[in-house]
Amino acid sequence: MKRSIHLISMLSLAAAAVAMAREAPAADVQQIDLAEWTPPSIGSVGDDPFGKLVKYGYALFTDTPNQIGPAAIDPAKRFVGGGLTCQNCHLKAGTQPYSVPLMGAWGQFPQYRAREAQIDTLEDRINGCFERSMNGHVIPLDGTEMKAYLAYIKWLSTGIPDGAKLIGAGMKSIKEPGRAADLDNGAKVFADTCASCHGKDGRGQRAGKGPGYQFPPLAGPDSYNNGAGMTRVLTFASFVRYNMPFGTTFDAPVLSDTDAYDVAAYVNSLERPVRPNLDKDFPNKLQKPVDTPYGPYADDFPPEQHKYGPFDPIRAKIKELAAARR
Ligand code: HEC
Ligand code: HEC
Repeated sequence: MKRSIHLISMLSLAAAAVAMAREAPAADVQQIDLAEWTPPSIGSVGDDPFGKLVKYGYALFTDTPNQIGPAAIDPAKRFVGGGLTCQNCHLKAGTQPYSVPLMGAWGQFPQYRAREAQIDTLEDRINGCFERSMNGHVIPLDGTEMKAYLAYIKWLSTGIPDGAKLIGAGMKSIKEPGRAADLDNGAKVFADTCASCHGKDGRGQRAGKGPGYQFPPLAGPDSYNNGAGMTRVLTFASFVRYNMPFGTTFDAPVLSDTDAYDVAAYVNSLERPVRPNLDKDFPNKLQKPVDTPYGPYADDFPPEQHKYGPFDPIRAKIKELAAARR
């Protein structure tokens, strides 16, 4: 309940009526299949204080570079320097299953997270994406932008009980080939199936004159930085297999598991912004995902293997180290 109290004190008086309180947890955990769930329609949102915040949150989510990026009129509101928008990864404004949808995310926090070794709030996760996926800065916890993001995610989660088991949340794992990724095959897959939209060099294609992109950059200065979840080969491969080329959905994947794995490695070998102090992530190294592309690691496998696999030998070693520690 701490969170709802915090939120209400954070919101202005007008918004107190909005009552962004959490619904009581269900006695039995309910299961909701997001692929069968109809998200609410943004067109039906009203002009009451909550509705206004939801609509601002939607604008921030789908048009980030213009709203709070390089094109923001108020320089204090230029929180992101790059060209990505939240929706570029959280597809269909955060409603597409297995592209880390945010429908239902409202009721899933706070939540333990190994990267920070702490209980993260939804606000922490939003700011995590600002600092890494968006290669920007955190937005203030008590600012209108954070309230708008929270209102948007709360609204997207309408009707989904807190703590429900969500099918289609996060991403869908690929079947890992039991070998290191093949960068040459990855380059070929990229040239054949990605370059037409994302560009030969992966740096995307602009949408007109503004800072935004029609086809977002997968590499280069306007893309996500090296601390983002997408730089993990298995995360990227899962995203791409079940969501790309654009228009693909999880029930009809286009790329094979191996092509997704190889193209993930190829894209991750390209240059991108560098985030300092990544060695501070995952204070408990035994909880560090095996495909985290930066050290330090609990094991002695070469960094190349953490980047490109194969990962099963690393998992076996981590299991052994964890057992020895008990
Ligand atoms: C038909 C055009 C098209 C093709 C082909 C395509 N993409 Fe995309 N991709 C997009 C669009 C458009 C988005 C952003 C979606 C949105 O904002 O709604 C996107 C988003 C992404 C993202 C997340 C955003 C980012 O910039 O990191 C990744 C990763 C990605 N694509 C990888 C790939 C890979 C790898 C391939 C080839 C296997 C591929 N895409 C093929 C159009 C395409
Ligand atoms: C380059 C891709 C990318 C972009 C752009 C991006 N995210 Fe994310 N986001 C992810 C990935 C991948 C995860 C889950 C894995 C992880 O945390 O690394 C995630 C997780 C989240 C979560 C937690 C969801 C859950 O179910 O646990 C929230 C909330 C979130 N992002 C909000 C945002 C917001 C708001 C923006 C825009 C300011 C944004 N993201 C931009 C890739 C992205």
